[in-house]
Amino acid sequence: MLVFYLCVVVSVTMAGKSKVLVIGGTGHLGKYIVEASSKAGHPTFALVRESTVSHPQKSNLIESFKSYGVTLVYGDLSDHASLVKAIKQVDVVICTVGPSQVDDQLNIIKAIKEAGNIKKFLPSEFGVDADRNEAVEPAASFFEKKAKIRRTIEAEGIPYTYVISNGFARYYLATMSQENATAPPKDSIVILGDGNVKAIYVEEKDIAAYTIKTIDDPRTLNKSLYLRPPANVLSFNELVSLWENKINKTLHKIYVPEDQILKSIQGG
Ligand SMILES: *[C@@H]1O[C@H](CO)[C@@H](O)[C@H](O)[C@H]1NC(C)=O
Ligand SMILES: *[C@@H]1O[C@H](CO)[C@@H](O)[C@H](O)[C@H]1NC(C)=O
Ligand SMILES: *[C@@H]1O[C@H](CO)[C@@H](O)[C@H](O)[C@H]1NC(C)=O
Repeated sequence: MLVFYLCVVVSVTMAGKSKVLVIGGTGHLGKYIVEASSKAGHPTFALVRESTVSHPQKSNLIESFKSYGVTLVYGDLSDHASLVKAIKQVDVVICTVGPSQVDDQLNIIKAIKEAGNIKKFLPSEFGVDADRNEAVEPAASFFEKKAKIRRTIEAEGIPYTYVISNGFARYYLATMSQENATAPPKDSIVILGDGNVKAIYVEEKDIAAYTIKTIDDPRTLNKSLYLRPPANVLSFNELVSLWENKINKTLHKIYVPEDQILKSIQGG
């Protein structure tokens, strides 16, 4: 009787977890999302190109996916039939493609419409809010593209959650945003503007964990989720000071005035 009861509980729990397809799962954020989804007990599928599996830098990652029990599905954003086939196997689609593939998400939207079974789509957001920012070109056009994906999702009547994760901590802090750097600086540091503007840095594993928590949470349906832990809101000067304390050294600071930054962005 007890065994029977346990089996029922286990199968109900499994049945309650949405099946997830991650598109872009071998990318910077995607790999954490695949891992978090799988470890949270969601049957997890990763769309990969057949060429990715043998790619020298990706093959270890693919092996780790397999070790978490992730199902690999072969496909490509330009292959409509492969997308529909992959999407039909799941309940939720999470897209984590990089900036160059934002527009390709129109193909995913088309495939979701045809498949007709998706209860939530999370497009590749994971940064600054595409509808609320004061970016200058070329970033402004990039946010316009992201906003266009949102408007298409809404017009097509696809349920969604937009995860506004702000800055990727591993990406920005690994070099302290220094041009061409491979490690945080130990001698001198370039500070844009006066360094007092606050930014939000969120660890990729935390972004992934919260993204996965939205999947079956009805409060996030057709809403934006903002990740903004108070302790992670820091000015660049505050970050520099944290780093100086850590390495026990005062860095030489090179301030680049705002008008000079704007000129160099415009190629002047
Ligand atoms: C979410 O959006 C979908 C698609 O537009 C709609 O069918 C559904 O009723 C919406 N649900 C809520 C709770 O807003
Ligand atoms: C970074 O690398 C590019 C390309 O090699 C070079 O043009 C640029 O001057 C470098 N910037 C810095 C700050 O070293
Ligand atoms: C930090 O640096 C100072 C001076 O360079 C040195 O005297 C001190 O012992 C260092 N502190 C630690 C914790 O390493």
